[in-house]
Amino acid sequence: MSFKISTFVACATLSCAVLAALTFSAPVLADGDGEIKYRQFVMKSIGGHMGGMASIIKGQTGNKANFQTHASGLAALSKIAGSVFPDGSDFGETQALPVIWEKPDDFAKAVKMFQSAAENLEKVARSGDMTKFGEAFGGLGKSCKNCHENFREKKKQ
Ligand code: HEC
Repeated sequence: MSFKISTFVACATLSCAVLAALTFSAPVLADGDGEIKYRQFVMKSIGGHMGGMASIIKGQTGNKANFQTHASGLAALSKIAGSVFPDGSDFGETQALPVIWEKPDDFAKAVKMFQSAAENLEKVARSGDMTKFGEAFGGLGKSCKNCHENFREKKKQ
C-alpha cells in the first residue's frame, strides 16, 4: 500500500511519462547525439528567455513583472552553459564548430563573457530600474553574438 502511494506521489510530481523516459532511455541518451540534443534544448531555453524579455521590452505583453524571472532563469542557465559541450559531442547533427574543442581557453572566455552579462542583467532586473534594462539586455545579446560568430556554424540556407 505504501509503495503504491509513493509511486502515485512520484508520478503526480514528475509525471509518469518523464519517469518512464528517465528509466528506459538513459543508456540510449548517454552518447554524442544525446549530448547534442541536450545542448540544443539548453540553448533553446536560453533563447526562450531572451525572446520573452524582448517581448517585454517591446511592450508586446503586460507581464512586465516577469522580466526578473526570465533574467534569473537565464543567469542560472549561463552557469551550466560551459558544461553542455562535453568531449564526443562535436560530431553529428550539430552547429557547434570543432574550434570549441581545439581552443578551449578561447571558448571558456566566450562562456565567461556570457555569464558576466547574464549576471549583470539579473542584477539590473532585481534593482527594478527599467531605464537600465535596455543596455543590460543589449550587453547580453552581444555575448550571444560573440560566441555564435566564433563557435557556431552559420545556418545552411
Ligand atoms: C559560449 C558560446 C555560446 C553562447 C554564449 C551562446 N550560445 Fe547559443 N549556441 C552556441 C552553439 C555552439 C550552438 C550550436 C549548438 C548545436 O547545434 O549543438 C548554439 C545554438 C543556439 C540556438 C539554437 C538551438 C537549436 O535548436 O539547435 C539558440 C536558439 C541559441 N543558441 C540562443 C542563444 C542565446 C539567445 C544566447 C545568449 C543569451 C546564446 N545562445 C549564447 C553557443 C553559444
